[in-house]
Amino acid sequence: MQRIISPSILAADFSNLQAACEMVNRSKADWIHIDVMDGVFVPNISFGFPVLEAVKKHCTKLIDVHIMIVHPEKYVQRFAEAGAEMLTFHYEAAENPEEVIELIRRQGIKVGITINPDVPVAALKPLIAKVDMVLLMSVFAGYGGQQFIEETYNRLEKLKGMIDELNPSCLIQIDGGVSIHNSQKLFDHGADVLVAGSAVFNADDPEKMIERMLAN
Ligand code: DX5
Ligand code: ZN
Repeated sequence: MQRIISPSILAADFSNLQAACEMVNRSKADWIHIDVMDGVFVPNISFGFPVLEAVKKHCTKLIDVHIMIVHPEKYVQRFAEAGAEMLTFHYEAAENPEEVIELIRRQGIKVGITINPDVPVAALKPLIAKVDMVLLMSVFAGYGGQQFIEETYNRLEKLKGMIDELNPSCLIQIDGGVSIHNSQKLFDHGADVLVAGSAVFNADDPEKMIERMLAN
């Protein structure tokens, strides 16, 4: 089983993103996570294409883009052109999730779908066979630094059961409040990819923290 950490640059120092990228490049994190928020689907606004392009320029790891935006179908091509290699959109934000999946596929990049903690995992059942990853939000999308919702473990177990049955190669990602205090338990419950923003970037030694979160 693979264990991947995807540090979220939402918690990095935006005045020196190159340093954040270089830290991730040196570290044992295989991915880098980029949170795009539009102020409509979520109350917060983060950043858009120019920041994604800057990260792409300096980071050698897989560019994992989480879009918290309405009308994801309108922007798929631009995210792909700006460097997204995994593009994850919100099920709740899409009028026609199957169409968005198809549009992302056509760009030749990996497709992820995600749900907030109040959406039943079963809603994704018809889509699981069509995606490369399901991101299970462990906080409500919109802000970094929130507290991990413990109910996530039950939802993860349900999702794992569905994935084992319908698409065993589909990855499971967890995002929100992930830290050294829950990383092992999440991996043990079947998570493949853990997003970590504040736990990594607020650590005294971010590289070491990534290593600790991956350790058995
Ligand atoms: C929240 C974002 C997360 C965020 C995680 O809406 O999707 O990726 O950066 O931040 P932490 O790890 O600080 O909870
Ligand atoms: Zn995210």
